[in-house]
Amino acid sequence: MLTIAIPKGRLFKKIKELLIYFEPKVKDFDESSRKLIFETNKFRLVLVKPFDVPTYVYYGGADLGICGKDVILEHDYDIYELLDLNFGKCRISIAQKKEVKEFKLFPGFKVATKYENITRKYFGDLGIDVEIIKLYGSVELAPILNLADAIVDLVETGTTLRENGLKEVKVIEHSSARLIANRAFLKTKYNFIKPFVENLKKLIKEKKEG
Ligand code: PRP
Repeated sequence: MLTIAIPKGRLFKKIKELLIYFEPKVKDFDESSRKLIFETNKFRLVLVKPFDVPTYVYYGGADLGICGKDVILEHDYDIYELLDLNFGKCRISIAQKKEVKEFKLFPGFKVATKYENITRKYFGDLGIDVEIIKLYGSVELAPILNLADAIVDLVETGTTLRENGLKEVKVIEHSSARLIANRAFLKTKYNFIKPFVENLKKLIKEKKEG
């Protein structure tokens, strides 16, 4: 049996649809359930916060996990990225108030984000010193309430930015859902993991072509 860390939230529905191909019982897996472990003969699915998926995989709580590339980049754990699942496509971008004419950095520039590491690395690589304000959600509020000059956040449709009077000024990274594995389990449970990954690959290819 494979233990897979599954994130609540935006990727959940698509992940469930995929897993139903392998195990029809997964249709009863409910993200709003108080029960955090869903077991069938094939899988043990554990429901976690999106940012915790690599943590569960790295520390061996789960053999595999599914999460966005954004979350993998933010953590930088030594896990193995097995597969791009080709859904959950989005980007990590810098956004500012739509009235700002030009994206310009200045001394004391403040950036609000929940992606502290990605933001630090991006501006660090440019050799620019910015103040990073860590938030845990509703990041779009920060420029409106003059907490920050810009935000670094996930953009999918762009609706949240638009509805809050912000605009995307620069894409930092592109992201999509990835299947990740614990490096040690990849070796010791190879006989279980390999057929699952091969079938998943076929399924994704079919979906892409169909
Ligand atoms: C993300 C992100 C934006 C929104 C972008 O938040 O932080 O707020 O989605 O999506 P859009 O471009 O399609 O509007 P999420 O829903 O993951 O919740 P969070 O604010 O709790 O992190």
